[in-house]
Order: sequence, then structure tokens, then C-alpha cells
Amino acid sequence: MRYSLFISIVTGGLMLSGSLAQAEDIEAGKTLYTNNCQRCHGAKAQGGVGAKLAGDATKWELSAFKNAVLNGVDDENHKLKKPMPLFGTVGLTNPQGKIPDDADLENIFAYIKTFAKK
Ligand code: HEC
Repeated sequence: MRYSLFISIVTGGLMLSGSLAQAEDIEAGKTLYTNNCQRCHGAKAQGGVGAKLAGDATKWELSAFKNAVLNGVDDENHKLKKPMPLFGTVGLTNPQGKIPDDADLENIFAYIKTFAKK
């Protein structure tokens, strides 16, 4: 009895700290998206020159999303049909030349997901 109470307190604490550490910054993602992605993917990620991101891509694993942005391959590891800047090589437009890090990509992905149901 006493042990199970102890265990639930410990696991509850771990879950809480885990979810806090994961907090994405949607505002930062919006800024990065607006400056680097919007001209091809649209203000609501509806697509344009670039693919629609508000649909299927919002359901991708984060790792697949990162791979697409950095290396230009889709979730099945195929090269994107139409070329997109390889952000992992050339870096962002603004801040110019910065290779997007994990936090940047997580923030952009979180922002794109806000369009998922529209
Ligand atoms: C110069 C135009 C351009 C810019 C800028 C651009 N993209 Fe793309 N992107 C494309 C094109 C074109 C495709 C579609 C390739 C295809 O259809 O095979 C694409 C595809 C994608 C895909 C794969 C979607 C899918 O369903 O296959 C993702 C994810 C993506 N872009 C994210 C981004 C993000 C995030 C940014 C900003 C950091 C960005 N793109 C900036 C042109 C661009």
C-alpha cells in the first residue's frame, strides 16, 4: 500500500516534468514559418508553389518532418518531387544561413499543426 502510493507520486512527477520539457513555442514557430516557408507553402500552410502542409504532413512523425525540411525527402524517404531548399545544407533565409536546430523545427511543426483542422 505504502509502496504503491510512493510509486504513483514518483511516476506522476516524472510525467509532469516530461511534459514541461516538451513545450513548443508556437510564436517562435510562426516567425520562422513566416520568414522562411510561407512564400511557397502559403499563409495557412494551404500550399502554393510548395506542397500543402496543413493536411497529411501535420500527421507525420516529427522525425519525418525534420528530414523533409533538412534533407528534402518525404515521410517514405523518397526525394521530394519538386525541389525545396535543403535547409540542412543552405540554412534558413532569415536568420540567414542558420541551420534550423531541433527546437526551431519543433516550433515550426507545432505552428503548422495549428492549421491541421482548418
Ligand atoms: C522555394 C519554395 C519553398 C520554400 C521556401 C519551402 N518549401 Fe517546403 N516544399 C516546397 C516544394 C516545391 C515542396 C513539394 C515537393 C513535392 O511535391 O515533391 C515542398 C515540400 C515540403 C514538405 C513535404 C510535404 C509533403 O507532403 O510531401 C515539407 C514538410 C515542407 N516542404 C516544409 C517546409 C518548411 C517547414 C519550410 C520552411 C522552413 C519550407 N518547406 C520552405 C517548396 C518550398
